[in-house]
Amino acid sequence: MSMEPKRENYVGREQAYAKHCILQGYLQKLTYKVGWEGVTLNYIDGFAGPWKSQTTDLVDTSPHVALRVLRATRDQLANLGRPRTSIRAMFVERSNGATALRESLAQYTDIETLVLQDEFENVIQTAVKFATVGKRPFSFGFIDPCGWVGYGMKAITPLLRVPRGEVLVNFMLNSINEWIDTPRRETARTFEDLFGSPDFGSTWKGLDGLDRQEAIVTKYCSRLKEAGGFTHVVSTIVLRAKEDRAQYHLVYGTRSDEGLRVFREMERATLPKQQAMRATALAAKRKKASGGQREFSFGAEALASAFDDELRSRYLAKAQATVDGLLQPGARIKFEDLAVAAMQHPLIAEQDVKNMLVARGERVRIEGLKPRARVPQWGEGHVIVAPRA
Ligand SMILES: C[S@@+](CC[C@H](N)C(=O)[O-])C[C@H]1O[C@@H](n2cnc3c(N)ncnc32)[C@H](O)[C@@H]1O
Repeated sequence: MSMEPKRENYVGREQAYAKHCILQGYLQKLTYKVGWEGVTLNYIDGFAGPWKSQTTDLVDTSPHVALRVLRATRDQLANLGRPRTSIRAMFVERSNGATALRESLAQYTDIETLVLQDEFENVIQTAVKFATVGKRPFSFGFIDPCGWVGYGMKAITPLLRVPRGEVLVNFMLNSINEWIDTPRRETARTFEDLFGSPDFGSTWKGLDGLDRQEAIVTKYCSRLKEAGGFTHVVSTIVLRAKEDRAQYHLVYGTRSDEGLRVFREMERATLPKQQAMRATALAAKRKKASGGQREFSFGAEALASAFDDELRSRYLAKAQATVDGLLQPGARIKFEDLAVAAMQHPLIAEQDVKNMLVARGERVRIEGLKPRARVPQWGEGHVIVAPRA
């Protein structure tokens, strides 16, 4: 069976397709990376669903997306003769859907699975224990709520702090952006809970549009970084299918530079899938508006990509400014450190930093390159030097 989510199962909920592609793409790379030397990979999904599934066997839900790719990658590693990697998975779902989920997962007889019907915040201690079991345990937490409650920063901190662990949080920017400045005390308290502190709302005052959205997400990332003791917390944007705005940001926390590099590489690889899905959704919307009279696929493709291009240009400019700032005349910096700084921005991958360095031409020297090589490589000890003016 193919590991990839099938587009036809996501009509009308295209964002879930993008989310599942990102989850699948990243878990594949993560399992390959941490599983190379043999580990116990403990996967924890705190808001498991099933949610708006369009299949009877629930294959289009995140638990199945995750288990398919975890199992396939584990088996690939075994075929390569690598030391044994074990997969364990814990799912939390508060609704009665937990029963159907449990039944649907019975087919994974070679993976230890635990399905709990409960509120995620009630089972954090169980999750922490689950995350730390096994030989050289590594944990990955997926937090995919419907809104902004149920994963308060203080409540989830013990799980964030599991030392060999990463996390992916679906930060529902669209609704958070709408409600975050509410004067209603009761609602404001829910945001205090989300950010883990009462002074969460200052950095976006006076901002609007993308600047405001970015300030809100950045604030959440910095709180998550602090609470979890992560080295990097960054986000990737999932757009609404038929509109030019973010539906949510997937916020990723890791203690590894390599993790960040791989996350951005996967983001780059899944973008065309997201774009194609948006184009199809837009074409369907325009066809409907024309009373089903006209086909719009080419126009929709261009329309979907125009906003993506705008976002890409925005973050390329920001990453360029970061790189320029670090390469002042006389500067010396490891290639990895330069790339890591640039990759804090959404949509920026290692390759973009290489392109920027090549474009600098004489204004940069790269130490440690092999003869005739022009481009620095990750993990090769290359150092970037900006000559003195
Ligand atoms: C957005 S859906 C999850 C979708 C799923 N991760 C997927 O991608 O297929 C959120 C799920 O979390 C459940 N839920 C909501 N609040 C919860 C809580 N506090 N604890 C656990 N589950 C919760 C909902 O019933 C719903 O099934």
